Amino acid sequence: MNKLRVAIDGPASAGKSTVAKLVAKRFSYIYCDTGAMYRSTTLKAMRLGIDLHNESEIVNMLNNTKITFKPSTNGQLVFIDGNEVTNEIRQENVTNSVSTVAALTKVRSILVKQQKAIANCGGIVMDGRDIGTTVIPDAEVKIFLIASVSERAERRFKDNAEKGIHTPLEELKREIELRDYKDSHREVSPLTKAKDAIELDTTSLSINEVVDEISKIIKNN
Ligand code: DC
Repeated sequence: MNKLRVAIDGPASAGKSTVAKLVAKRFSYIYCDTGAMYRSTTLKAMRLGIDLHNESEIVNMLNNTKITFKPSTNGQLVFIDGNEVTNEIRQENVTNSVSTVAALTKVRSILVKQQKAIANCGGIVMDGRDIGTTVIPDAEVKIFLIASVSERAERRFKDNAEKGIHTPLEELKREIELRDYKDSHREVSPLTKAKDAIELDTTSLSINEVVDEISKIIKNN
């Protein structure tokens, strides 16, 4: 079987990264979490005290930044300029600010260029918001994962609880709705389903069921 390019898009907390990692493992493909690249950019800018609306300063910063991934037994590690930031980029302050940075046109063009280069070799599962529409518009497999807001808030509530974070469920729902709104209404590459993407509603499916479904689609390709 040829090494395919698998694009998995969808809104926040629809289960993209969990599913994408497992699909990549099943086929021995590379996994690339593009959200981690926007999160890393946001974290570095916040650490440097850069105003997150200041596109030119963030672009300057990004031109002198290396975001890298490394597989490990505890999952994929993320590094900014050689320093590990795997957990920091998932903290609430980054999560609630990343949409602002992800809406900056020039930031997107730098990161999309890097993502295209990563995807070029094939044998890759890449997840994000614009993978099937912009990063790999000719991907052999395109999946669009959705789930209800309540289900996604519950999933984040459980993830948070495991990390000792106790944000009320109602607040998580509001944050998810706000992020959905910002991600789908920005001017550049808004979150949209590619015309040829297969939509999967994961609301009442287990992780394994979703992984099996995507695996079937890959094998049938
Ligand atoms: O998937 P995630 O929650 O880690 O993504 C973090 C943010 O980055 C999210 O608010 C949308 C943005 N993002 C994007 O605009 N394009 C991508 N390809 C991936 C993520």
